Order: sequence, then C-alpha cells, then structure tokens
Amino acid sequence: MKIAIFGLGYVGTVTGACLAGEGHIVIGVDVNRDKTRAIMKGRSPVIEKGLGEILSTVVKKKRFFAVPSAKDAIMRTDMALVCVGTPALETGTINTRHLESVMKEIGSALKKREGFYTVVVRSTVLPGTTEEIIIPMLEGASGKKTGRDFAVCVNPEFMREGNSLEDFYRPAKTIIGTRTKRERTLLLNLYSFVKSPVVATDIRTAEACKYLDNIFHAMKICFANEIGVVVAHMGVEAGAVMEIFCRDKVSNISTRYLRPGFAFGGSCLPKDIKAILYKAKSKNLDVPLLESILRSNDMHIQRAFRSIMKTGKRKVGMLGLSFKPDTDDLRESQMVRLAELLIGKGVKLRIYDKNVSLARITGSNKSYIEREIPHISSLLSTSLSDVIKKSDVIVIGHDIKEFKRIIGRIRKTKIIIDLTHGYEK
Ligand SMILES: NC(=O)c1ccc[n+]([C@@H]2O[C@H](COP(=O)([O-])OP(=O)(O)OC[C@H]3O[C@@H](n4cnc5c(N)ncnc54)[C@H](O)[C@@H]3O)[C@@H](O)[C@H]2O)c1
Repeated sequence: MKIAIFGLGYVGTVTGACLAGEGHIVIGVDVNRDKTRAIMKGRSPVIEKGLGEILSTVVKKKRFFAVPSAKDAIMRTDMALVCVGTPALETGTINTRHLESVMKEIGSALKKREGFYTVVVRSTVLPGTTEEIIIPMLEGASGKKTGRDFAVCVNPEFMREGNSLEDFYRPAKTIIGTRTKRERTLLLNLYSFVKSPVVATDIRTAEACKYLDNIFHAMKICFANEIGVVVAHMGVEAGAVMEIFCRDKVSNISTRYLRPGFAFGGSCLPKDIKAILYKAKSKNLDVPLLESILRSNDMHIQRAFRSIMKTGKRKVGMLGLSFKPDTDDLRESQMVRLAELLIGKGVKLRIYDKNVSLARITGSNKSYIEREIPHISSLLSTSLSDVIKKSDVIVIGHDIKEFKRIIGRIRKTKIIIDLTHGYEK
C-alpha cells in the first residue's frame, strides 16, 4: 500500500519505518523541517532502540521518505495515518489544534484528489473527537462525504517508548475502530503481519480503549506504591507481598471485578479497607488512592438513589437486598444502604430477595435482620410478582437469571433501573 504519515514524532516515525519494513511505500509529513530532513537522510528524528537501523534500510530502499506538503502526500497515497500530538490543555482536556490543522490540509487535498481515500487516527483522542471534530472538518474542507468519498477510522497506538519496535510487531493487542466492513478489511490487511489479536470495534470504543489502558496502568502503579508504603510500615516486605498478590490470576490479575456495575458491600471489603486506612493514618501516611475507594463506592449508591428519585415515582420495588447474589448476608450491604436512603425520602419500598426472606424465618442471619434492620425486614415480600405488580419502578440489584428474565416482560409497563449495569444509571 501507499501510506502517508502525518506527524513524525515517536509514534509516526516508528509506525512509518515498520510499515515500510513490511513492504509498504510510506510518505512522511511534519511541520518540523528538522524531522523531515532527518528522515530524508535515513536518520531517526527520535531516539528509540533499533529504530535507526530499520529507518536507514527503508530510506535507502526508497520505501520511506518525507515530503514538504500534505497535498503531495495525499495525492501519492491511498491512506493517511495521523500521528500528531494531542497534548493536554491547562483545563486537562486535549489540545486538538494539531489534529485540526492536519484535517484541514488533508481535506483540502482530498477536494482535488480522485478516488476513495482512508484517514486513520492514530493519535490519542477522547471518545467523540473523530465523529464530532475530525469528520466534520474533513467534510467541510473537502466538500466530500465520509463513507461515500473517504473513510475515517481509529487505530490507537499502544507502544511504550523505549520498547516501541517490540510493541509494534508484538503488541498486546491492535484495536481498529471502523464504521464499515470495507474499512475493517482494509485495516485487518494492513495489520496481517501482527501475531497478537486484532480487535475490531466501533470508532468511539476504539478511542476509549486507549484511555482505559493508560488510566488502569497509572492506577496500578499508584496502588502498588501506596500499598507498598503502608505494608512496609507494618514490617512487611512490600515486593514480596506484591509478588504473591500477582501470582493470583483468578481474582487479582484477571477480569474478575472489572465489569461496570454497582457499588460493593459485604462484611469484608469495607471493613478491611477501613482497617488499612486506619493503620496508614496512625503512621501519618498519605494514601489518597486507597482513601478514595470508599468515597467512590458511596458515589454509586448516591447516583442510584438520585436516578430512582428522578423518576418522580414513589412506589419502588427492589430486587435483591443482600450484598451479592446467592447469600443472605446483609452486613454492609450496598442495597440496604440504598433502601435506607429511599425509605428516608418517604418512598414506598417493597423488596424481594429469596435468600433474605428465607433467612428471616430460619437462617443464621435471622437475629441480624431482627436486630439491625427491622424497618427494612418488614418490607420484604416472598412474592416477586407481587413486588412487581405493586411498584412503578423496579430496581435490579442482583445480576441473576430470575431477574433478567422478567426485564423483557415488564419493560413496557415499569421503569427499570438495572444497577448491575452501572452505565445505565
Ligand atoms: N509517545 C508515545 O509513547 C505514545 C504512545 C501511544 C500513543 N501516543 C499518542 O500518539 C500521538 C503522537 O505522540 P508522539 O509522542 O509521537 O508525539 P510527538 O510530539 O513526538 O510527535 C508529533 C509530531 O507531530 C508533528 N506535527 C504537529 N502538527 C503537525 C501538522 N500540522 N502536520 C504534520 N505534522 C505535525 C510535530 O511536529 C511532531 O513531530 C499523541 O496523541 C500521543 O498521545 C504516544
């Protein structure tokens, strides 16, 4: 393929050199003339292990070169990979200035270019940037229509500086965000040499993927650092305990607990977090990430409460009361806390939880229910259909088949707030 690269920084130069190494013809464009001159001389404009060798080879073979104008690059290629910087503005949001000026240049070149063209956004952009800024700019500058005259796709870069060649050929994953099968096929072909999984998705999801990774990585570092400091003050070797933690690939380094849903509760998590926070405080240690966990959890309970109140209805049915399905344990249950907030506002609440109803009569939790939450206990019904019939809003707190089955049936007549899918709140 003939590919234009806009922005010859870390991402653009590595991408360009590696794609040229795979046999493509690559034409680079950068507003910084030092960078384009370096490429023409076969020298890397950035320091990156192994890049110099690949670059000098592909430049010698005339498979990678730079041109001064965007128009020239667009006329001679079928696809542009946009790798310009998206630095942070003072407000924290991304500065799209470089992206916008590239899109104007590409758009005005497309005006005169015949045939279909594909623009691929490699820069890190917030979800919505491509559809709300990039596509309108390209359409405005070219007078052409996306989908008909050109395509716009998103293909975020996941390389780590210092390791980027290795990451290019063996990335953890390659994400392509496209709108049509044609675009998807084109990008799948471009990355056919990559051994690791290529994930095809829509444009916004592809944009979001990059942020999730970086935020999660940053959070992991802060978690390890904060935990390291706290346990060290308790005479525990931080590296050793973290190494054991990481050996657990079932609960710790795994997909478990990584589904957007509702707040956590129960007799262990809140209590153990509080104990570690108490210890940190007693040692005068600042652990803002750990301190924020319970606050973050509370936010979800408050958010759910507001969503229910916003419906304007005051007859609410709650399905699930224990802190998770398949137990009658109500200690520190997030559902109990939500129920208390609703009762406090005068909501007429009815609750269905098979396990808790059973425990109320015979179980080990009987005395807890009678002692701690008699006011809530009296709202429990043993009939799911009765709770549904007498409520205008149904709040689903447990992700179980029994509740999922009824959603479809009652969706038309009741307002459903499914807490097990946090994003619906
Ligand atoms: N550096 C990384 O490790 C890395 C990894 C993944 C993703 N990213 C993302 O990729 C993007 C690029 O990052 P980078 O580190 O390569 O940036 P960089 O600053 O090294 O390079 C960007 C290049 O774009 C050029 N440029 C600016 N305006 C231009 C224009 N109108 N036309 C042509 N060129 C123009 C600049 O001169 C510069 O050379 C960013 O969005 C970044 O967040 C970076």
